[in-house]
Amino acid sequence: MCGIVGYVGSQSALDVVMAGLKRLEYRGYDSAGVAVPADGGLATAKRAGKLVNLDKELSEHPLPAAATGIGHTRWATHGGPTDANAHPHLDNAGRVAVVHNGIIENFAPLRAELAERGHDLPSETDTEVVAHLLAEEFSGCADLAQAMRLVCRRLEGAFTLVAVHADAPDVVVGARRNSPLVVGVGEGEYFLASDVAAFIAHTRDAVELGQDQVVELSRDGVTVTGFDGTPADVRSYHVDWDASAAEKAGYASFMLKEIAEQPKAVADTLLGRVDGSGTLSLDEVRIPPGVLRETNKVVVIACGTAYHAGLIAKYAIEHWTRIPCEVELASEFRYRDPILDQQTLVVAISQSGETMDTLMALRHAREQGARVLAICNTNGSTIPRESDAVLYTHAGPEVAVASTKAFLTQLVACYLVALYLGQARGTKYGDEIRDVVRDLAGISGAVERVLGTMEPVRELARSLAHKDTVLFLGRHVGHPVALEGALKLKELAYMHAEGFAAGELKHGPIALIEEDLPVVVVAPSPRGRSVLHGKIVSNIQEIRARGARTVVIAEEGDEAVVPYADHLIRVPATPTLLQPLVATVPLQVFACELATARGNEVDQPRNLAKSVTVE
Ligand code: F6R
Repeated sequence: MCGIVGYVGSQSALDVVMAGLKRLEYRGYDSAGVAVPADGGLATAKRAGKLVNLDKELSEHPLPAAATGIGHTRWATHGGPTDANAHPHLDNAGRVAVVHNGIIENFAPLRAELAERGHDLPSETDTEVVAHLLAEEFSGCADLAQAMRLVCRRLEGAFTLVAVHADAPDVVVGARRNSPLVVGVGEGEYFLASDVAAFIAHTRDAVELGQDQVVELSRDGVTVTGFDGTPADVRSYHVDWDASAAEKAGYASFMLKEIAEQPKAVADTLLGRVDGSGTLSLDEVRIPPGVLRETNKVVVIACGTAYHAGLIAKYAIEHWTRIPCEVELASEFRYRDPILDQQTLVVAISQSGETMDTLMALRHAREQGARVLAICNTNGSTIPRESDAVLYTHAGPEVAVASTKAFLTQLVACYLVALYLGQARGTKYGDEIRDVVRDLAGISGAVERVLGTMEPVRELARSLAHKDTVLFLGRHVGHPVALEGALKLKELAYMHAEGFAAGELKHGPIALIEEDLPVVVVAPSPRGRSVLHGKIVSNIQEIRARGARTVVIAEEGDEAVVPYADHLIRVPATPTLLQPLVATVPLQVFACELATARGNEVDQPRNLAKSVTVE
């Protein structure tokens, strides 16, 4: 939430910062602003609403040229999305400008203290206090990094801060606690950003910042210290994707592009992870096999779409390893005093690696002695850095707010973790592992085939655009798929959508069924005369008898559902546990098309931001 950019170099800082903000707009689009030191003072511009409003403002009232600058795109926490609450925030003399991501929990006493000393704080934000405190500290030491360290020691909560000062015009200073901030290292130019996407067009060399660190950028280089001033060890890394990966590449939206990229994302996540003998080698998983053998419980923690991946992981982990597996919303986890010990393996799933709920849950798990394995799509982000081990998904950058390709790769990673655990514990052997991995490898082509048959789904979505409610039903792994289908529709189309376990219908939800209500049913495979399949065919009949308009997602060759499906969506046959990889795709396409038909912007749904960096 909130995107931050800082720049020091020889290019036009404003151009670099604005281009960076464009790439970070997925993090929040309530307002945007920039500040540059110029002509002995600071020049700023900020506007409520999307970045395009700021762009317009800058073309009507250009700022002076500068080679140092900062910028911000906001997801509002304290104070509404107004010009006055937009960042950057300045001190009363207009000498220091600061942008912020996170929440400063003790802003109220700090604000009262500043007001007592005669400061005027006109905005409703928690951020403004930082500008005023920085100005005070800078007047004592004339060193912006030192001033930032002194201020940070007084702050509580989660924050990334980036600041410039009119009296240090060639310097940008940043600080981080819990929220993301990365450094980009170019040739004689340096960048700060919430995400490497902001500077990937200029450099792919990045430096990770640790917890409670302050970074100073100048034309001479980068200096990182702890909040106490001691020099910090940092990790440099090379980003393995380039600027083209974060472009729309001719698609109408990032979401459409990311849906289309799923076959490759699935294949890339599998690449090189199993050898010819069927041995999985997950190099990044640094937990010794001996320790994995001792594991007697797995707990998956995640939020939103990643949580749905976790629900599916439970089926695979318990089936393949016979280890009990719990799945819990990360936001609830630490508040219920969960039972954890050294034999518990906690799997934290997160695309961004920055979700605060998941981060706090994993910290709690580690405090209780559990080992944490992260499944993450973002190299260098906080969640993998704070975990004992990490399995990276290789979806490439996911820009659309609604998660699609990351979800499919999270599923692949969960299956790999389940097999790896099975391998370590001896419940899965080389040939079985090889078979599943071969099935998984085949899924990439199956997803491609699904994508090639989506026109009727798009047509159906358009025809249902006027509806108020859509329900989703599934059994077994189809239940989390139904939950995911409903979540996609809620967040993109702003419709009432709910997912249910089909077996629960008669325990209440069936009362919702009325004439022509669209109900999407994820049917399991009929192969092997599956009991599950027979049950869902009955469920479809029950809702249809009560007037529902049934949309059935069924495997190719499943004839039993045909008489009861008002609309039939075919997906290739897959092993039951892997079916979510193909069954989710039509639901993503359905939600995207329906939202578009309702005139919604699918890449930036209202009220949402991609990385949820506050609890
Ligand atoms: C829904 C969606 C969110 C995220 C959730 C977790 O489409 O994108 O529900 O899945 O906020 O985010 P990560 O995976 O970054 O932890």
